[in-house]
Amino acid sequence: MKDKKHNRRYFIKSTIAALAIGTVALWDKMIVTQKKIDVKNKVSLLFETNKQISFQDDFIIINKDDEVSVLSSRCTHLGCKINEYSNNQLLCPCHGSTFDLNGNATKGPAVRPLEKMDFEIDKDANRIVVIAGGNMRS
Ligand code: FES
Repeated sequence: MKDKKHNRRYFIKSTIAALAIGTVALWDKMIVTQKKIDVKNKVSLLFETNKQISFQDDFIIINKDDEVSVLSSRCTHLGCKINEYSNNQLLCPCHGSTFDLNGNATKGPAVRPLEKMDFEIDKDANRIVVIAGGNMRS
């Protein structure tokens, strides 16, 4: 009888210990995965201080009147890459949508604004680090 009780206690303690170790291991893995995602979502671009509009990768860097903003260059109509600026408008080459420098659609077919990106400027290195997925539009 004593052996049975001892075995049951041992089983319960072992199970609790295994669950605790598993939880800690899983938690640690989740944190490491999150760090990898965070690193993957940062894109470092050249910050050309002398250019008002700069198209780089999937982003449009706007540097106007000492104010910097970064927009996604993906058109909100069907996702074409916006790559032209003319007459104070960002132009989508696919179906002719236009956007102002705040990202607002000014001519369709697109109706939604371009995504505003979160970013950090490293002036010493002339880099701008865009945090993809860091939507700041409110
Ligand atoms: S994808 Fe830009 S207007 Fe259609």
